[in-house]
Amino acid sequence: MSNETTKGADRRRRTVRCEVNGQVVEQDVDVRRTLGDFLRHDCGLTGTHYGCEHGVCGACTVLLDGRSARACLTLAVQAEGHKITTVEGLGAVDGALSVLQQAFHECHALQCGFCTPGMLATLTELLRETPRPTEAEVRDALAGNLCRCTGYQPIVEAALLAARRLSGETVESATEGA
Ligand code: FES
Ligand code: FES
Repeated sequence: MSNETTKGADRRRRTVRCEVNGQVVEQDVDVRRTLGDFLRHDCGLTGTHYGCEHGVCGACTVLLDGRSARACLTLAVQAEGHKITTVEGLGAVDGALSVLQQAFHECHALQCGFCTPGMLATLTELLRETPRPTEAEVRDALAGNLCRCTGYQPIVEAALLAARRLSGETVESATEGA
């Protein structure tokens, strides 16, 4: 390989250092590698799903410094110096579900589960920024996340149940919270 070719190859790779679910990750990547491929293939975090791969379905949504981001449209190099949270990092370290995940479970807010990681990321951001959203606000937040199974109603109910619990209300079960 000539020197010029070697230099060209070097320019196509960068070392990315970021925090993924609380762990520092340092990885040499192709500059065109997407954040989704980085998470799935380099970090082994396959909970981040790829659906459309062009920013429409929301299945790949993760949190980048707490803000929702499409992992299929974000490059891995853009994560440099940032904190990423995937579905694997939403619950507690001991494996306990987050309040929102528990509400999904109780409300049967998933069937095949393909959209669920993206839904959880989007709603985690919503509930942090709007602790007591209206049903309309929940539906508006979910406008960029497609689900082919549930009809959305149980997802909306789960978000509203989680909001009540996160606000300090004691709601024993999804049935009582409905
Ligand atoms: Fe990223 Fe569909 S896979 S939005
Ligand atoms: Fe199947 Fe949403 S649960 S796509």
